Amino acid sequence: MTILGIETSCDDTATAIVRDGRDVLASVSTNQDAFHAKYGGIVPEIASRQHVALLSAAVDDALGRAEIALRDLDAIAVTRGPGLIGSLVVGVAAAKALAFALNKPLYAINHLHGHIFAAFLDRDHEPPYPFLALLVSGGHSQLVDVRSATSMHVIGRTRDDAAGEAYDKTARLLGLPYPGGPRLDALARGGNPKAHAFPRHRPDIGTLDLSFSGLKTSVRYFLESDEGKRANPADVAASFQAAVIDVLMARVDSAFARGEYRALVVSGGVAANSELQSRVRAWSAARNVPAFIPPPKYCTDNAAMIAAAAYHQRPIARVDPLTLSADPNLPFEPAA
Ligand code: KG4
Ligand code: ZN
Repeated sequence: MTILGIETSCDDTATAIVRDGRDVLASVSTNQDAFHAKYGGIVPEIASRQHVALLSAAVDDALGRAEIALRDLDAIAVTRGPGLIGSLVVGVAAAKALAFALNKPLYAINHLHGHIFAAFLDRDHEPPYPFLALLVSGGHSQLVDVRSATSMHVIGRTRDDAAGEAYDKTARLLGLPYPGGPRLDALARGGNPKAHAFPRHRPDIGTLDLSFSGLKTSVRYFLESDEGKRANPADVAASFQAAVIDVLMARVDSAFARGEYRALVVSGGVAANSELQSRVRAWSAARNVPAFIPPPKYCTDNAAMIAAAAYHQRPIARVDPLTLSADPNLPFEPAA
């Protein structure tokens, strides 16, 4: 089954062709960073206008790379939400038009489910159910109990900033250009993670929730202090990163202590972080639990993960191309 995926929930104009939820024949992402960089963050109006300008070419590009024609597609999949409304509507309108014109099934996908199915792409073994998913991106940070492709529940979520947001804001405090997450990752490689003891916030004993705004604030106060002004930025970056990852790994441990899981999936943009990846690999080896982290190109927003989710969720994801609408606040729980 060959599915065209379309993802425009934020600032990446992404298309992909995926076979049977696993084999990526093409994955195209037109990064808009250059248009947003001078504002230090994503400007929604610019993002939606860029999607309008780029999406048709991105669909053609994916088809060309996969060497297939529109008529060879078995279905179209699109991100319905959550995300920026002005961005989502561009992808949803294009997918509706294609599905209607080609008379092919249309599947509407939750962007966050897409991040989970990124772990199924381009590999021989799929994560066995039930598994725990740690989803850490710029917009979301949550722990998900995944029973099957269509039964998944959020068991912990951030109370304030997402992990990627904390990375981006802290990177900005360190004077790194946008988007800061990957740059902070690179800077931290030369630093000492034990140089500064930043707080490890864990809201309310007994929940699996996360909180990162206090950490970001304490880095800010530190950098404003006399000691902070003299500090080595690489040490600050490494110490910040150690605090984020300690909290994430402690939550993973608590979730595993509560539930029977056969694997750990780590996904979302922050899963591309080199230190998080090495900590997860060490955890996996010590616990003898398989860990699945998508390659970096599938950790950050992409359309292959949307096509993969559509394949696995097709019993519940089919929608009518005439009535589908984008939903910027789409709830996480699948409507089974
Ligand atoms: O999943 P994603 O592409 O978009 C959302 O759905 O939010 O995640 C983007 C986030 C940004 O905050 C970015 O700084 C962060 O992921 N990120 C990283 C790294 N690569 C991307 N954070 C830390 N280390 C990285 N290597
Ligand atoms: Zn995302």
